[in-house]
Amino acid sequence: MAGRLEGKVAVITGAGSGIGAESARLFAAEGANVLVSDMRAESGEKVAAEIGDSAAFQAVDVSREADVRAMIEAAMARWGRIDVLFNNAGFGGAIGPIESTSADDYDITFDVLLKGVFLGMKYVAPIMKAQRAGSIISTASVAATIGGGSPHLYAVAKAAVVKLTETVALELGAQGIRVNCICPGFIATPLAVGHPDADEDAFEKLRNGIGRSQPIGRLGEPRDIAQAALYLASDDSTFVTGHAMVVDGGVNAGPAWDHWPKWMTESRPLKMYRPKGR
Ligand SMILES: NC(=O)c1ccc[n+]([C@@H]2O[C@H](COP(=O)([O-])OP(=O)(O)OC[C@H]3O[C@@H](n4cnc5c(N)ncnc54)[C@H](O)[C@@H]3O)[C@@H](O)[C@H]2O)c1
Repeated sequence: MAGRLEGKVAVITGAGSGIGAESARLFAAEGANVLVSDMRAESGEKVAAEIGDSAAFQAVDVSREADVRAMIEAAMARWGRIDVLFNNAGFGGAIGPIESTSADDYDITFDVLLKGVFLGMKYVAPIMKAQRAGSIISTASVAATIGGGSPHLYAVAKAAVVKLTETVALELGAQGIRVNCICPGFIATPLAVGHPDADEDAFEKLRNGIGRSQPIGRLGEPRDIAQAALYLASDDSTFVTGHAMVVDGGVNAGPAWDHWPKWMTESRPLKMYRPKGR
């Protein structure tokens, strides 16, 4: 079904790669005008050019207030409204033991992963209030809900994105603005590989490795998250707000069945403590 975003304007951060790029393509295919924003101009411009007339590129570092304000102003100057803001830009942030994490790396991690989302919400809110309509979507992560497997500060920042989503949804709901986030599992993007210019071979390795161990039996693809974002952006979800939508192939539910202890997964008759006569 095409045209689910017909006539709408969407601003997407981190749209030069991975989840953001795929969302920009899908939103445009569904009828939206899209402002493709990214810190990396070359990749962002490429995505916007590929989409064509319904897209434009804006360079933005989401950790800088002036950049985020300019991004919102650029979309308004070009299209006169903003129906969807997708705060998606991100990176892995500081990694390693707590004792060797510098305070500077702490600041950068939170500035990109949390302040970037806060700034997007802050600058789009007055516009969406005046329109009395809008959908704000942010990319959190299953790192917010599952213990282990992701860097300390990344997990905390993503958990904060979930909470910020909930509280801002409560403020803006009565004004027709919905605020939601998506918690992706493992998705085949440069971020998951650990290199911004990762090639197809690196993704294949990931698909054949960690992908096979996912409960659903495969790695997530950027399209899986773009489709969730499309639902939250569109009028199909007008009663959905304050929600953290987990899109993870089952990871949040637990390990895949073949990773459970054998004694639990083999068929056997119930004997111990069986009630008499049953
Ligand atoms: N790939 C996964 O497994 C996964 C899982 C959970 C959540 N996420 C989240 O998904 C979002 C998108 O990541 P992705 O997986 O598509 O990775 P990606 O590396 O393909 O894309 C991230 C994009 O964000 C941009 N970016 C980084 N810092 C920025 C900044 N300060 N300002 C503006 N742009 C900036 C990068 O240039 C890049 O184009 C991130 O928020 C990430 O934390 C990813």
